Amino acid sequence: MFIAQCVKMRFRLLRRNVIAFVLVSLAVFILMYTKFAIVSDKPPETPPQLNTQTTAISKFQYGSVMDMRTSVYDSNFKQTIQNDDKFPGDPEVTIIVQVHNRPAYLRMLVQSLENAADVHKFLVIFSHDYFSQEIADIVQGITFCKVLQIYFPYSRQLYPVEFPGQDPKDCPRDMAKADAIKSGCLNAEHPDSYGHYREASITQTKHHWWWKLHFVWERVHTLQGFSGYTIFIEEDNYILPDFYQFFKGMLEHKKSDCPDCDILALGNHDGLGRFQELSGKLETASWLSTKHNIGMGISREVYYKLMGCNNEYCTYDDYNWDWTLQNLSGTCISKPLKVLVARGSRVLHTGDCGLHQKEACRPELAQTKVQESLLQAKPALFPQTFTVMDHGLAQHQPHMKNGGWGDIRDHALCKNYAKRL
Ligand SMILES: *[C@@H]1O[C@H](CO)[C@@H](O)[C@H](O)[C@H]1NC(C)=O
Repeated sequence: MFIAQCVKMRFRLLRRNVIAFVLVSLAVFILMYTKFAIVSDKPPETPPQLNTQTTAISKFQYGSVMDMRTSVYDSNFKQTIQNDDKFPGDPEVTIIVQVHNRPAYLRMLVQSLENAADVHKFLVIFSHDYFSQEIADIVQGITFCKVLQIYFPYSRQLYPVEFPGQDPKDCPRDMAKADAIKSGCLNAEHPDSYGHYREASITQTKHHWWWKLHFVWERVHTLQGFSGYTIFIEEDNYILPDFYQFFKGMLEHKKSDCPDCDILALGNHDGLGRFQELSGKLETASWLSTKHNIGMGISREVYYKLMGCNNEYCTYDDYNWDWTLQNLSGTCISKPLKVLVARGSRVLHTGDCGLHQKEACRPELAQTKVQESLLQAKPALFPQTFTVMDHGLAQHQPHMKNGGWGDIRDHALCKNYAKRL
């Protein structure tokens, strides 16, 4: 009897211990989980949730970093479409422009859009990673088609002294790893393949490109269920007047001549020198980053293909988005990307001052040049017939990665875009 009670009591004690243990573990788990979730799901300080403004169109505030963060969050949430009433119905072409801070070139692009035939059928989305009144004014001046502005929320401008901007505690680019570890700088353990530490200004473009790809296809309300192509260009591109008609021609020929083409390239880097001869010519090829990275048309299917390689894109040690895609083609994307290319380019590259050539910034010169070549090309615009040349699929050589993308903070932030649905 006594023994039996003893055993029962022991059991009760045991049960109590078990319950206590379960409760404690649960608490620890929840604690760890929230901490982990904060670290992994919310890279640096998400701007405050919706300070429910009721005004129809709130102006972007440039006053302080906090103002800008709020404006970015607010605008990306509201997605006010400019000229929506004026052009009812669904757009037939969607162009996405990645914009940094070259207003003179952006003005040229807007001018070229205005001169494009059937531009009222376009939706143009400007994706900004630099926020200024000057740039906003250029875009807000557009009256000839629907316009949406979206804002890269991890811009350096919003994080001036912390990641993804440059943190004063980051290791200097050229510091040797041993010295970096000794000095205790933040990213000492993670230089790139060539021993260099991260530079915020160098990494931003690749981040913005991936964020934008995802945001456009998943988050832009007006593109929910959209089954067409999004055409990606940059602020220093210039559209030819027959862009729309040419795009439609390419679409038809993709269906008939290259159903397994993944990408349309409406541009190339050959200029308009032989435009008369090449205007109606198309060719199929393996996608090459150096040739086919301008005026790229992508369908939702291909967007999914690319996003399926989120980890690979975000960890490949090359700060160039296009060289990174090149590496995915044929590896993570097992069948190499195939492209239908315009031989007479419909998207020109006016920017003579890319990331590496700040000195040679001459927008006036670019303007004259583009107008001259356009004048020459004019008689050959709006081709009546197209011919398609099949180049088969060349196996391209794997190449050296360019580095600049070794910091695991970049990897984590980049991977995060696609996780936040
Ligand atoms: C992609 O990168 C990996 C890792 O650096 C490399 O082994 C592979 O050869 C590259 N592939 C291509 C197609 O560039």
